[in-house]
Amino acid sequence: MTSTGDSLSVDHIARAKTAALEAIGKASSLDALKEVKIHHVGDKSELAKANQALGKMEPTDRAEFGKVIGQAKTVVADAFDDRQGVLEKERDTKVLIEERVDVSIAARRTPKGGLHPLTVLTNEICDLFLGLGYRVAEGPELEAEWLNFDVLNIPADHPARTMQDTFFIEPLDSHLVLRTHTSPVQARTMLTQDPPIYVICPGRTYRADELDATHTPVFSQVEGLVIDKGITMADLKGTLDYFARAVFGPDVKTRLRPSFFPFTEPSAEVDFYFNGRWIEWGGCGMVNPKVLVACGIDPEEYSGFAFGMGLERTLMVRHGITDMHDIVEGDIRFTQAFGTGVK
Ligand code: DAH
Repeated sequence: MTSTGDSLSVDHIARAKTAALEAIGKASSLDALKEVKIHHVGDKSELAKANQALGKMEPTDRAEFGKVIGQAKTVVADAFDDRQGVLEKERDTKVLIEERVDVSIAARRTPKGGLHPLTVLTNEICDLFLGLGYRVAEGPELEAEWLNFDVLNIPADHPARTMQDTFFIEPLDSHLVLRTHTSPVQARTMLTQDPPIYVICPGRTYRADELDATHTPVFSQVEGLVIDKGITMADLKGTLDYFARAVFGPDVKTRLRPSFFPFTEPSAEVDFYFNGRWIEWGGCGMVNPKVLVACGIDPEEYSGFAFGMGLERTLMVRHGITDMHDIVEGDIRFTQAFGTGVK
């Protein structure tokens, strides 16, 4: 056998093979094995170079050297694959141990929170009226004085306007108040929409009251307003009956007591009979023609009714809550009792 020089002697190939096998055997990690591949197995290895040099050999020698090189390459490639298999297995075992998840450890539970009973009641009422074809209307809590009072026919000397009841916002000439009721949302709706109007307006309201068992300076109301052709007090009574039954149960009765509100004429207090007694619920009446005119609606063509009640009171009566503090303080031990606390 002849050779084309040192690079293709059988010896040289044997040495290259031995060196490759030794390096593969010594590689103690997959990274190290990668390095070994570059020098001893890949395109730039001695064996690969010898393989490339075959082309320049005499055809008679080519077959014999080809066989030697081929065998050496196979042995090295097999050794490499074996070693790689071993190292991968080692790595996987290590990862499995290091990254083991102990599914028996007690999980830390982050409470998701829940809706306050007042919010639940508000949603319930909105859903009820949406089902009757009403829309939900909302307005700002910081309200223009004229929308909170004047448009609603509440004159400048009305007691509700005095410093005792209303939170006026400084500077006073801004003529802004924290709305004392949700009735300005009626006015806003009538000023911006043409009849027929069917809206329910839930929202937060403010009055300068001390927090005690039955009062809170920040409270919630829900207002209803209907403006259409031929609306009468019978529609109002029927709607209040439906509303009361949905909130307090099918046996509840309502009654209207004559009363006065500047924005309705005639006006009434609505009471409901619950657990053996009459309970005052809110105010209502036929929208005062003066208010319709102030809001650009022709009282000759349209009439309407309105009602408004406190949501805290509604919730307290329905659930036998005796102290307002429970509703406003945000203690989850209270809300949890409604099944709406921490989930
Ligand atoms: N706005 C009144 C209040 O806060 C409640 C009320 C009475 C609302 C009569 C109405 C109504 O819509 O027609 O005391």
